[in-house]
Amino acid sequence: MNADEFSEGLAELSRLLGSAGFTDSVEDRGRYGGDASTALACPPLAVLRPADTQQVMDVMKVCHRHQISIVPQGGRTGISGGAVPRPSDVVLSLERMNGVISIDQDDACLTVWAGTPLETVQNAARSVGLSYAVDIGSRGSATIGGTVATNAGGIRVLRYGTTRNQVLGFEAVLSDGTLLSNLRPLLKDNAGFDLKQLFIGSEGCLGILTRVVLRLSPEPYRRHTAMLAVPDYAAALACLASARRQFDVDLVAFEAMWPAYWSFAAKRIEKPSPLGEGYGVYLLIETTSESQIPLEEWCVRCHEEGITTDGVLAQSLADARSMWDLREAIGEVGREYGSFLSFDVGIATSRLGEFVETCDACLGGLIPAKTLYLGHIADGNLHVIVPVETNDEAAATEIETRVYELISKMQGTVSAEHGIGLLKRPWLHKTRSLAEIEIMRRIKSVLDPANILNPGKVIQP
Ligand code: LAC
Ligand code: ZN
Repeated sequence: MNADEFSEGLAELSRLLGSAGFTDSVEDRGRYGGDASTALACPPLAVLRPADTQQVMDVMKVCHRHQISIVPQGGRTGISGGAVPRPSDVVLSLERMNGVISIDQDDACLTVWAGTPLETVQNAARSVGLSYAVDIGSRGSATIGGTVATNAGGIRVLRYGTTRNQVLGFEAVLSDGTLLSNLRPLLKDNAGFDLKQLFIGSEGCLGILTRVVLRLSPEPYRRHTAMLAVPDYAAALACLASARRQFDVDLVAFEAMWPAYWSFAAKRIEKPSPLGEGYGVYLLIETTSESQIPLEEWCVRCHEEGITTDGVLAQSLADARSMWDLREAIGEVGREYGSFLSFDVGIATSRLGEFVETCDACLGGLIPAKTLYLGHIADGNLHVIVPVETNDEAAATEIETRVYELISKMQGTVSAEHGIGLLKRPWLHKTRSLAEIEIMRRIKSVLDPANILNPGKVIQP
């Protein structure tokens, strides 16, 4: 492809989308240059903002003909570099394809444009007494398309599963402009391969999601929240087992924070923190039921049985909010640490305590401050924040090598929920076999033979 043909392609895109849908101004290119990760931001050649599925199809036809590579973007809240363009890429933002199209109470589902913020979907569901199960800290800006493209997990996976479990129907545009549309709200559909599952979690490498049908659940009467302290990870496991027995499907969230994270978060919230320092692990638990009594009685029993050392129940929505603020303060690590590495590992729940101890031992001496650990332990998912000296690439690589070797040894995954994007790509082989990676490559080359959809993300061509 020569430069003239390429600029002809860009000119065609500009004519197609008009000024509302095409921009190549310096400010706009800067604005769409990065996501929330530490991957270096880079302004794309231009930004496309199509208004509907037809425009996405037309855009992809032009891009296919002129071999223009496209980086799809939602709310740019990802932290694996999956939405970060290269200098020769064009960004396709779904932000104008925004809004809930319909809510069907009898079928308990909702049809939505991909560019709709997650929180808008949660609120729309709540307005009719239903709820959308996926919840993550970046709910206000993350878009549904992004959460589907990355198979977002979040805080209620133990109860409802990941995004994969919520998508009933999908519509996507392929790299050559072909439309795959199946917006039927069917929970059961075994008519051949389940193509939507291929697109969920494919990080914009296989097609561009334009609309989805999402499953809704009943909105619980009330949510109840408790923060508990346990002496060590073994006690956290005992507490989890007991909570599962006691609450079954009413156990909605079970989060853990290790002391270094707790101290960091306690400093960042406005209210006094609900528990003191010095405990082994801090747990944040959410249950649903009509009254708070079952949670209260269970907390007392855990204390009497010596599983927990301390604990507080949220007495108001504001109390619960400040407990969650502690947990969501992870979004603020960038303000505390100039440079850090962020891991999103998955390991069997039973082995997370051993992972934390071994990881600390492995990294000892290499890092300037304590590693922060927290996560969704019922899902076997830990977020690990490792502070590093700015510009010390060699140390960063050594830390990544040690952490991912440990993960590999412990039969874990290099990404439990944030995806591979750009930042985890060098480590994919620590989790996936060569045969698995080869199949991913072949699927990619069938659906995107010219490699114009988010090239270089997840796998090398
Ligand atoms: C969380 C994000 C970082 O769990 O996945 O807060
Ligand atoms: Zn998470």
